[in-house]
Amino acid sequence: MPVITCIEDLKRLHRRRAPKMFFDYCESGSYTEQTFRDNSADFSEIRLRQKVAVDMLGRSTESTMIGEKVSMPVALAPVGMAGMQSADGEIKAARAAEAFGVPFTLSTMSICSIEDIAAHTTRPFWFQLYVMKDEDFVAGAIERARKAGCSALVLTLDLQIIGQRHKDLKNDLTAPPRLTVRNLLNLATKPRWVAGMAMTRRHTFRNIVGHAKGVGDLSSLMSWTNEQFDPKLDWAKIGKIRDMWGGKLILKGILDEEDARHAADFGADAILVSNHGGRQLDGALSSIRMLPSIVKAVGDRTEVFLDSGIRSGQDVMKALALGAKGTFIGRSYIYGLGAMGQAGVTKALEILQKELDITMALCGEKTVAGLGRHDLLIPEGFFSRYS
Ligand code: GLV
Repeated sequence: MPVITCIEDLKRLHRRRAPKMFFDYCESGSYTEQTFRDNSADFSEIRLRQKVAVDMLGRSTESTMIGEKVSMPVALAPVGMAGMQSADGEIKAARAAEAFGVPFTLSTMSICSIEDIAAHTTRPFWFQLYVMKDEDFVAGAIERARKAGCSALVLTLDLQIIGQRHKDLKNDLTAPPRLTVRNLLNLATKPRWVAGMAMTRRHTFRNIVGHAKGVGDLSSLMSWTNEQFDPKLDWAKIGKIRDMWGGKLILKGILDEEDARHAADFGADAILVSNHGGRQLDGALSSIRMLPSIVKAVGDRTEVFLDSGIRSGQDVMKALALGAKGTFIGRSYIYGLGAMGQAGVTKALEILQKELDITMALCGEKTVAGLGRHDLLIPEGFFSRYS
């Protein structure tokens, strides 16, 4: 067992232990993967300002996200098919998040259902909704989330049409995998994964099968998405969903000042600045590059969160210093899940918290609330290079 000291180590182990098609699903961006690469590359262009001779005692990474106390402002993002990275993956991730004191968000496209998560956790989780053409499914999902005690609805706005990820097509990605010779040869090298899957009944999209009309075999995320997601989603429809839900609402997939202002006017409790981890509009700017102008556009009318590209506590620190009230991680915890199940998600959270804590200390900061632009060194023109 290799010594794990950083998120990159978890990624290496994930690649080794999970079936190729699921590791590739996690690691892909759409088309040329330009935005996928930029998300991380742009974080590393931003540098931190070292401060010395500052009392470091009594530091804390605690904060709040939409009024909920968090041990650090890092939520687990909704990730499709997490239960294919490791058996019962969403339950494992939710339990790790609960023990760590950070929010867990369950994807509509999860393997474990809303009810599965509710039965295995006590902390209210967040539910991410995709708007489908099937209005009964949408209303039913909202009702099920309410019944499960979910404390926020995360409505994703940037995936009504799916961006192509080449590897998913080439791998013939399905959940569960088809038992072709190629897949069987690959599975033969993943004994832990196979053993885990043999112990669970949760092998396909349990939030959907049995809940959406005419869905029996929902093996392929891509073909199902193309058929079922509502391409006519507009602000009026979003308003209807907001009213149907009536609770805390996070609008995910905002990457534009005008959309951000609209979301704030609309009464969203938070917006999530995101390009879907570079999995949708290839060529979009990185989330971190868009963050300051969006923070400025909405002022204090709504909380601003950020995802896409966070692989370290230093990245979390940079996002917070640029005005994000919280961050979301996707791949960073999925690597842990695919590598070591629940213990791997806990490990990912521990790594990020330790890195955030030490980074704050070396920047002379003791609290999340104290972080700001003064902690950063940013290349001239970085935020105005594109217009
Ligand atoms: C789903 O949200 C995906 O990006 O695959």
